[in-house]
Amino acid sequence: MRGPVFYSLLYALACLLVLILMTGQQANANSNENCGCHAIKSEGPFVHKPVLDGACLSCHKPTGEKHPRVKKGAFTLTDNGMVGLCNECHERKNVMKYVHGPVASGDCLACHDVHQSDNKTQLKAPGAQLCYKCHTKAKFDRKYPHPPIAEGKCTGCHDPHQSNVKYLLKGDGMNLCILCHNPDMFQGKSVHKPITEGNCSACHSTHGTQYIHLLKNNYTDEIYMPYDKENFAICFDCHNNDLADDLRTDKETNFRNGMINIHYIHINKTAKGRACKVCHDPHAAAQARLISERIPGFGKWRIPILFTKTDTGGTCVVGCHKPKSYDRINPVVNP
Ligand code: HEC
Ligand code: HEC
Ligand code: HEC
Ligand code: HEC
Ligand code: HEC
Ligand code: HEC
Ligand code: HEC
Ligand code: HEC
Ligand code: HEC
Repeated sequence: MRGPVFYSLLYALACLLVLILMTGQQANANSNENCGCHAIKSEGPFVHKPVLDGACLSCHKPTGEKHPRVKKGAFTLTDNGMVGLCNECHERKNVMKYVHGPVASGDCLACHDVHQSDNKTQLKAPGAQLCYKCHTKAKFDRKYPHPPIAEGKCTGCHDPHQSNVKYLLKGDGMNLCILCHNPDMFQGKSVHKPITEGNCSACHSTHGTQYIHLLKNNYTDEIYMPYDKENFAICFDCHNNDLADDLRTDKETNFRNGMINIHYIHINKTAKGRACKVCHDPHAAAQARLISERIPGFGKWRIPILFTKTDTGGTCVVGCHKPKSYDRINPVVNP
C-alpha cells in the first residue's frame, strides 16, 4: 500500500537531496580550492584574503552562460577597469600629487598577483627584484651603494604607489633621511648651511656613489697625509680651494693670526698634514665654526678640543695642552 503519506515523504526526501546537492554545488563554486577544475589559487604562502575566503564570485561575476560547458565568457570581472575592481575593496592609490607610472595606468597586476604569491603583499617578485622588472638594475650598481639599496629595500624611501613628494619619496629633504638616521647628528651650536637647508644631497648621492660615505666627491678617511687638495675635493666644490695655499695671507681664510694662515700651518705639510675632519664636523657641532668637541687621535683615543670664538679670532685648548689663541687684527704672541 502506498498512500499519500508515503509519496509526501518521498517528495520531501527528494527535495532534501536536491537541496543537499545544490548547497554542495554552491559550496564548490565558492570553495577556496579551485572551483572544481582550476589550478588551486590558494596554496601560495601568501593568499589574497578574498581568495582565501573562497569569495571567487566577489571578483568573477557569472554572465549566465553555462560554465564549465562554456569556457570563455562565463565570467566577467566585476569591473572592467582593473583599478575599479581593486577599488571596490581598497583605498584609491592615485589621489596624491605624484602617482607611480604603472599605478597611474591602472596596472596593479604588474606588481601584484591577485590570487596568491610567494611574497608578502601578493608581490610578483621580492624586494628590489620587483623594481628591476622595469628599472634597469645596472643604474643602481655603485661601488659604494647605500646599504638599503644593497639590501633591496627600495620601499624604505619610495612609496610604490604614490606620494606628495617628488620621486615618490616618503619624506622631503632631510625628513627622508631621518626616517633611519639619528637627527642629533645634524644639530648643534653650529650647523652647516646646506644642512640647515635640508639639502643632504648637496654632498651625498642617495643611491650610492664611487666615493666613500656616499659622497659626491673625494673625502679621505685618513687623518694625516701629505697635503693634496684632491683629498678634500668635496669641500672645495663649495669653498675657496686656496684656504691653505699660502703661509702668509690676509684674505684666504679667517683662521689667521695676523697674516699667518693657521689652516696652512695645520694642513699644508709634505708629510703629516691634517685632514679637515681633525677639526670640523661636516654636519653640525656643539662648538662654533663646525669645530668638533673631540678630534680623532691615536687609536681609539679621541682628544677633547675646546674652541672659543671671538669677533676677530679664537682660542683652542687641545687635550691637556696650553690654550692657543689667534687674532686677525692684533696678532697674539703665543707662549
Ligand atoms: C580579488 C579579486 C579576485 C578574486 C577574489 C579571485 N579572482 Fe580570479 N582573477 C582575478 C583577476 C583580476 C583575474 C585576471 C588575472 C590576470 O589577468 O592576470 C583573474 C583570473 C582568474 C582566472 C584565469 C587566469 C588564471 O589565473 O588562471 C581563473 C581561472 C580564476 N581567476 C579563478 C579564480 C578562483 C577559482 C577564485 C576563487 C578561489 C578566484 N579566481 C578569486 C581576480 C580575482
Ligand atoms: C572583494 C574585495 C577585494 C577586492 C576586489 C580586492 N581585494 Fe585586495 N584585499 C582584500 C582584503 C579583505 C584584504 C586583506 C586586508 C587586510 O588584511 O587588511 C586584501 C589585501 C590585499 C593586499 C595586501 C596583502 C597583505 O599581505 O597585506 C594587496 C596587495 C591587495 N589586497 C591587492 C589587491 C589588488 C591589486 C586588487 C585588484 C586586482 C585587490 N586587492 C582587490 C579584499 C579585496
Ligand atoms: C610598482 C609596483 C606596484 C604597483 C603597480 C602596485 N603596487 Fe601595491 N604594493 C606594491 C608594494 C611593493 C607593496 C608593499 C609596500 C610595502 O611593503 O611597504 C604594495 C602594497 C599594497 C597594498 C598593501 C599595503 C597598502 O599600501 O595598503 C595594497 C592594498 C596594494 N598594494 C594595492 C595596490 C593596488 C590597488 C594597485 C593598483 C591601483 C597597486 N597596489 C599597484 C607595489 C605595487
Ligand atoms: C611595471 C613596471 C614598473 C615597476 C615594476 C616599477 N616601476 Fe617605477 N616606474 C615605472 C614607470 C613607467 C615610471 C615612469 C617613468 C617616467 O615617467 O619616466 C616609473 C617611475 C618611477 C620613479 C620616478 C618617479 C618620478 O617622479 O620620476 C620611481 C622613484 C620609481 N619608479 C620607483 C620604483 C620602485 C621603488 C619600484 C619597486 C618597488 C618600481 N619603481 C617598480 C614602472 C615601473
Ligand atoms: C635611502 C633612500 C632611497 C632608497 C633606499 C632608494 N631610493 Fe630611489 N631615490 C631616492 C632619492 C632621494 C631620489 C631623488 C633623486 C636623487 O636625489 O637622486 C630617488 C630617485 C629615484 C628614481 C628617479 C630618478 C632616477 O634616478 O631615475 C628612481 C627610478 C628610483 N629612485 C628608484 C629606486 C629603486 C629601484 C630603488 C631600490 C633599488 C631605490 N630607488 C632606492 C632615495 C632612495
Ligand atoms: C630606509 C632607511 C634609510 C634611509 C631612509 C636613509 N638611510 Fe642612509 N643608511 C641606512 C643604513 C642602514 C646605513 C648603514 C648603517 C649606518 O651607517 O647607519 C646607512 C648609511 C648611510 C651613510 C654612510 C655610508 C658610509 O659608507 O659611511 C650615509 C652617508 C647615508 N646613509 C646618507 C643618507 C642620506 C643622505 C639619506 C637621505 C637622503 C639617507 N641616508 C636615508 C639607511 C637609510
Ligand atoms: C657639506 C657636505 C655634507 C652634507 C650637506 C651632508 N653630509 Fe653627511 N657626510 C659628509 C661627509 C664629508 C661625511 C664623512 C664623515 C667623516 O669622514 O667623518 C659624511 C658622513 C655621513 C654619514 C655616515 C657617517 C656618520 O657620521 O655616521 C651619514 C649617515 C650622513 N653623512 C648623513 C647625512 C645626512 C642625512 C645629511 C643631511 C641631513 C648629510 N649627511 C649632509 C658630508 C656631508
Ligand atoms: C654644497 C656646498 C658646501 C660643501 C660641499 C661644503 N660646504 Fe662648508 N659651507 C657651505 C656654506 C654655504 C657655508 C656658509 C658660508 C657662509 O655663511 O658664508 C659653509 C660654511 C662652512 C664653515 C663655517 C661654518 C660656520 O659656522 O661659520 C666651515 C668650517 C665649513 N663650511 C667647512 C666645510 C668642510 C670641512 C667641508 C667638506 C667636508 C665643506 N664645508 C663642504 C657650503 C658647503
Ligand atoms: C686645526 C683645525 C682645523 C683644520 C684641520 C681645518 N680647519 Fe677649517 N677652520 C678652523 C677654525 C678654527 C676655523 C674658524 C676660523 C675663524 O672664523 O676664526 C675654520 C674655518 C673654516 C672655514 C670658514 C672660512 C674660513 O676659512 O675662515 C672653512 C670653509 C673651513 N674652515 C674649511 C676647512 C677645510 C676644507 C679643511 C680641510 C682642508 C679645514 N677647514 C681644516 C680649524 C680647522
